[in-house]
Amino acid sequence: MIVLIGPMGAGKTTIAGLVAERLGMTVRDTDHDVEAAEGRPISEIFVDSGEAAFRELERTAVAAALATHEGVLAVGGGAVLDPATRDLLAGHDVVFLRVGLSESVKRVGLGTSRPLLLGNVRGRIKALLDERTPIYESVATLAVETDGRAPDEIADEIVTAL
Ligand code: S3P
Repeated sequence: MIVLIGPMGAGKTTIAGLVAERLGMTVRDTDHDVEAAEGRPISEIFVDSGEAAFRELERTAVAAALATHEGVLAVGGGAVLDPATRDLLAGHDVVFLRVGLSESVKRVGLGTSRPLLLGNVRGRIKALLDERTPIYESVATLAVETDGRAPDEIADEIVTAL
């Protein structure tokens, strides 16, 4: 499996589609899988059940996707925070999509519904980038820069590098 990791606004969903298209593969997206399994949006899962419960659902979705799917998998930006989820990714091609603070804010948008960014989007994204970048680096088998680059160019680089 080719697994795309990285912060919110890195472009995981978009790039997953483009990489899959180039390789004749299909895409899975754990945010989508969790919402489908739960029948409620992620924002509601966070409010009603909390982040820890969401991470468990996310881990289940990652495990299910890896077991049943061969292709490209986009995981939520915080999936790799969970050590058990990180363990599941061992042995797969794990691509870290790097994104800088300003670009991430621009792509996510100030009106985002993402629960972890409510209140102060720029400040929250900065804190998450600082905390998570070392984790992304340690899990990834390939890191790709996305700032100022067209999605097609990023997808080409990934396909060439793998
Ligand atoms: C999260 C990222 C979101 C989603 C949830 C939590 C995070 O996915 O899983 O809101 O902790 O970074 P995207 O990275 O696809 O936005």
